Amino acid sequence: MPKLSAKSSKLQASPIRKLAPLARAAEARGTNVIHLNIGQPDMPTPPEMIAELHGLSLATLAYAPSEGLPQAREAWSAFFSSWDIQFAADEILVTSGASEAITFILSIVAGGDGEVLVFEPCYTNYLSFAAQADVTMVPITLKVEDGYHFGSIDRLRACVTPKTKAILLCNPSNPTGTVYTVEELEAVAQVAIENDLFVICDEVYREFVFDGGKIRSFTEFSDLAQRIIVVDSVSKRFNACGVRIGCMATHNREILDIALRFCQARLSVATAEQLMVVPMLEHGRAYSENLCGEYEKRRDAVFNGLAGIGGVSPHRSEGSFYTMTRLPIDSCEEYAAFLLRDFALDGETVCLAPGEGFYVTDGLGIDEVRVAFMYDADTLKRAMRILDASVVAYPGRLAVATT
Ligand SMILES: Cc1ncc(COP(=O)(O)O)c(C=O)c1O
Repeated sequence: MPKLSAKSSKLQASPIRKLAPLARAAEARGTNVIHLNIGQPDMPTPPEMIAELHGLSLATLAYAPSEGLPQAREAWSAFFSSWDIQFAADEILVTSGASEAITFILSIVAGGDGEVLVFEPCYTNYLSFAAQADVTMVPITLKVEDGYHFGSIDRLRACVTPKTKAILLCNPSNPTGTVYTVEELEAVAQVAIENDLFVICDEVYREFVFDGGKIRSFTEFSDLAQRIIVVDSVSKRFNACGVRIGCMATHNREILDIALRFCQARLSVATAEQLMVVPMLEHGRAYSENLCGEYEKRRDAVFNGLAGIGGVSPHRSEGSFYTMTRLPIDSCEEYAAFLLRDFALDGETVCLAPGEGFYVTDGLGIDEVRVAFMYDADTLKRAMRILDASVVAYPGRLAVATT
């Protein structure tokens, strides 16, 4: 048989879905599995969106224009405007989720042998997007002790090389829940200007900032206007991951022109789905703000539960609907398998996302897990009790200093 390409081996299997066979086996044994491993919102898609889909009268489902339907681009423009982010409709390209937008952008700004700086732990698919675009991700490692903030600008400057083309930042962050401070955003902006870099802002969790906070958008930095590319999506804010509608937005005409060629090569994004999201983009802000309140309660349930486990000093997620935490465990991958294979409390167990898959650097994250807040607070409290009991029962538990 002919050998497959070297590039194809660079794509990693999803670390989030890796444990699925063990979870299915546990369920087949009658154990209730609480899935903390995956960011698939559990709440219903807004009925307005479903009604819009039912109300469409389309005789032929034709290709949409490659750049997106005019009404969808206008709706994204109105949506951004409701956040004081100004992009004209013709500065926005509709994509198949944020995923497609990021893959295109990586190719455009750094494809070939370019480098992109990324904070790790990071959204795991960034690594696969980069592999597809022949881009090297250069990690800036963040630590749980620092709440996964990077603090000093020198950390960024030290990673820039002649091949660096962009900085990719997810704010609020998946997987850590970090919301970057104004000083951190200023540092990113300064390093981008000093080194002639683009800034790719993944803001798919923009609405989900806890404790009354709000993210500052890079679009506020006027001297970055030509360098900024914003990536967005309806997936999380409207509980509509299956709709597959996202966008990229930039004032940079050269990028728009090249990105349009990528869009043309894949013809178009689903017509009906573009139409069904229009009303929510135009008027759905209150809907996602209510979701944020619910996620905040869930964050509290997870944080308090983790804080009660011996040897765990959890990081208090500031936004998105995730947190990462270190556990007093030799290998969280083994521990996650143990939970599904060998452990249950009152007929229930937990499926976790082991931390390693969220790091670019080999060997990091072995003692960390990501927790997603996809259940109501009571279920999450039960899940935390399961973690507490299982950490004690797990044979690879590390000694915990008691003072
Ligand atoms: C940080 C981040 N960016 C992008 C995506 C992809 O979003 P979409 O469903 O719009 O492709 C996700 C999905 O989980 C994500 O967490």
